[in-house]
Amino acid sequence: MRVLIAGATGVIGRRLLPLLRARGHHVTAMVREPARAPSADLTVVADALDRDAVRAALLVARPDVIVHQLSALSDRGSLGLEVTARLRTEGTANLLTAARDAGVRRIVAQSIAFATAPEGDPVLDEDAPLYLDAPDEDWARTVQAVAELERLVLGAQGISGVALRYGTLYGPGTWYGRDGAIATAVAAGKLRMPEVAGGITSFVHVDDAAQAAVLAVESDVTGTFNVTDDEPAEASVWLPWFAEQLGGPAPRTIPADLAGRLLGWFTAYQLTELRGASNDRARLGLDWKPGRPSWRDGMADDER
Ligand SMILES: NC(=O)c1ccc[n+]([C@@H]2O[C@H](COP(=O)([O-])OP(=O)(O)OC[C@H]3O[C@@H](n4cnc5c(N)ncnc54)[C@H](OP(=O)(O)O)[C@@H]3O)[C@@H](O)[C@H]2O)c1
Repeated sequence: MRVLIAGATGVIGRRLLPLLRARGHHVTAMVREPARAPSADLTVVADALDRDAVRAALLVARPDVIVHQLSALSDRGSLGLEVTARLRTEGTANLLTAARDAGVRRIVAQSIAFATAPEGDPVLDEDAPLYLDAPDEDWARTVQAVAELERLVLGAQGISGVALRYGTLYGPGTWYGRDGAIATAVAAGKLRMPEVAGGITSFVHVDDAAQAAVLAVESDVTGTFNVTDDEPAEASVWLPWFAEQLGGPAPRTIPADLAGRLLGWFTAYQLTELRGASNDRARLGLDWKPGRPSWRDGMADDER
């Protein structure tokens, strides 16, 4: 098949590209800067927020399938979230508009597994409500953009769509990988832990994330799928373990009512309220299973 990766230079895109080529697919890398393009069968240049450039790129590439791995999370602040939201809304719309003219039949898009509202069971499936009305403006906008991406991808006329809701990514190049922002903070003892740290994170290794995208490209199923490991973990478990693994000090605890002010809204939310995400649907529907079923083994294996 002819496959175009939008976001081919990213943490996932770079790992996905050779996997698809090894499966015999003709892979086009859509990039902004040709000098940074990974080795591919074809390279096209387009900014995903430039509708005409995306259309021109897709008309050259003529893919059967688009894999959308666009994000701007290298900036961890509000701007990164804002641009990522635009990539999820405008970027997705641009890809789909161009896709119709280019004869694309399928789209596989990156979404997130941790956008659910913190209600109900500790570990939620894909039918759980999204946190569209989160009290933090940045997070509410992020979740709304995720919902719009999924609406566009699953509702596209004549194009079958899959949204892969990745868990919290770890592994090389991620925030939890060697030199990653979170690993660095934890190793330095800078990430403090609320007294009650019952928030649950579902992690996934970047290679497992890429493998799920390969299966989604080659499958005909549609819908949303959590791509997470088998061991949703409470912050009170993973954070001290991660600190020890990195050779850092045990995280200092802080009173729960100061968590938002001292850690920032999202980190406090992740450590205290977040729900985990089950991967049963991806196992059944995509025939995917994590190569690293537990974050403990996966993080320990990754040379940091
Ligand atoms: N270590 C870090 O600082 C860092 C940075 C980013 C992500 N991460 C980690 O990686 C995870 C996410 O991985 P990911 O693969 O989803 O994201 P990613 O590594 O940030 O990749 C995003 C991709 O989107 C592309 N892109 C961004 N804006 C674009 C635009 N306007 N037009 C076209 N392409 C655009 C980027 O291209 P360009 O190469 O042109 O920007 C890149 O290929 C995060 O959860 C985090 O853990 C870490």
